[in-house]
Amino acid sequence: MDGLRRLEYRGYDSSGLALFEPGGIKCFKAVGKIRELEKELTTNSLVGKGGIAHTRWATHGRPSFANAHPHRDCRGEVFLIHNGIIENFQALKNELCVRGHKFTSETDTEVLAHLIEEYYSEDLVRAVIRALRRVIGTFGLAVISAREPQKIVVARRGSPVILGIGNGEIFAASDASALVSHTKQVVYLHDDDVAVLTPSAYEITNLNDPSIQRQAQTLEWDVSAAEKQGFPHFMLKEIHEEPEAVENAMRGRLLEDEGISKFGGLEPVLDCILKMNRLILISCGTSYYAGLLGRYVIEACTDVAVEVDVASESRYRKMNFRPGTVVLAISQSGETADTIAAVREAKRKQALVLGLVNVVGSTLSRETDAGIYNHAGPEIGVASTKAFISQLTILYLLTLLISRHQDMSLSEGRSFLRELQSIPAKIRCILKGADKIERLAKKYSQYKNFLYLGRKFNLPVALEGALKMKEVSYIHAEAYPAGEMKHGPIALIDENFPSVFLAPQDSVYEKVISNIQEIKARRGPVIAVGNEDDRELPRYCDDVLEVPRTEEIFTPLLTVIPLQLFAYYVAREKGCDIDQPRNLAKSVTVE
Ligand code: AGP
Repeated sequence: MDGLRRLEYRGYDSSGLALFEPGGIKCFKAVGKIRELEKELTTNSLVGKGGIAHTRWATHGRPSFANAHPHRDCRGEVFLIHNGIIENFQALKNELCVRGHKFTSETDTEVLAHLIEEYYSEDLVRAVIRALRRVIGTFGLAVISAREPQKIVVARRGSPVILGIGNGEIFAASDASALVSHTKQVVYLHDDDVAVLTPSAYEITNLNDPSIQRQAQTLEWDVSAAEKQGFPHFMLKEIHEEPEAVENAMRGRLLEDEGISKFGGLEPVLDCILKMNRLILISCGTSYYAGLLGRYVIEACTDVAVEVDVASESRYRKMNFRPGTVVLAISQSGETADTIAAVREAKRKQALVLGLVNVVGSTLSRETDAGIYNHAGPEIGVASTKAFISQLTILYLLTLLISRHQDMSLSEGRSFLRELQSIPAKIRCILKGADKIERLAKKYSQYKNFLYLGRKFNLPVALEGALKMKEVSYIHAEAYPAGEMKHGPIALIDENFPSVFLAPQDSVYEKVISNIQEIKARRGPVIAVGNEDDRELPRYCDDVLEVPRTEEIFTPLLTVIPLQLFAYYVAREKGCDIDQPRNLAKSVTVE
């Protein structure tokens, strides 16, 4: 239970555990916070010293008792818990149903329990290995069987599992924070490692290389740091998770040979989507800026007319929904009151309403007609970062889906996907240069105002960059279309009012350079986000934040990262409460 509480920050909507008890395995589950499970346990006298426990962050199937882990096989012998996504769970489930297996949940995880049962004769480890060889997707897994008490089999692929080597006790967890109060001796499993734990020993093998050796290491963290996996703040941890956020947004949704994307959640309404002539994006805050970018991208690649509305304003418009109109609500939390109100208004007027949501089982995910989950994992920092990158990625994939049913050719679709798949590595390059951004933050943290300026695809990035700066450092920062600067805002500029420009070498680069020169002519300091091999840009600016090259349409996926880091380090320089900024809430559930 201590371990589960340590993991609760990663999000929870239900939890459960299964213990080796004298009469066999006892399993308890509860919906809601960990304390609901504790209530279950207090009414049962438990003596078990070994078992498995899980706090769920739903990916498939809403939060419910039936969907809570551990999941079990038909015979009630095998119990397992799982983090990750089984992409081919439906095909496996169909095969297992034909073989007579009975399922009790909507989750992808339960398939694993029945697949192991299918292969389980005498040896649990062998059954687990055979089952995992059938799995496409990611797993951080722990399995026990009533037939082999005091043995726990764990495995990982794409979802972390760490072993804790205690004194006469062995642990496994998805995160060091669950272990560090018991032991600092840990072994990090690698992808496709399978480990067998008994009370006093462990063995590790690998699906591809049985002879591997994994060395124990000593955790340097204290408990509080461990929850952030060594990062000082959730916001910084989540910025560093952005490469995986892009990978998880694309996982299982690319048909590379056909140069197209697919969304299981949109299948029931795909016809309406492909026939739509008007798309209205509704959201708030950072999600609104994602929608703004979505408009530029979708209109650049399709013939769909796209409107973007701040949810709190959209409800005052008649909207004139006609046949062919589709509404897409974008929301990380799925609980934003303004967006929910706007969605209910749109449904009242018979519009088809879709959701792009990160939190599974949230209100918006239930009230929209169909939708797409981000699979970005829980975002704890109030200032949204990885969810924004995930929203952008999914909007690119949605653009591809529509465009490949219109004018985009097979080769264009394939190169679109290839470039999108190159983005995680390019984000990793930017993250490697974070220390330069930290130094720049020290130089600019005393200013009282910033003006953020961008054009075309990078105008939403300017808006989002300014919002990050406001939210976490409390410094006034506003964003404008760069072309608008001379229609008023430039009156603000002097040596105490720095400007931040988005200036990748794209189709509007020359115009942005002219705007930079107009600012410099009034002694305004200029920071620009530009291409790392651009020798021209530094001549016009005081400082440059560098990003790798990509096609113009994808530049926002890279140019926003330095601005997120810049805001973070300025806030840190100012000693602000970065993960819980004053006056803000992670989910604005009031109008
Ligand atoms: C973003 O950093 C803010 N926390 C806020 O603007 C947020 O994006 C907005 O409240 C919308 O939240 P949602 O995506 O959960 O609907």
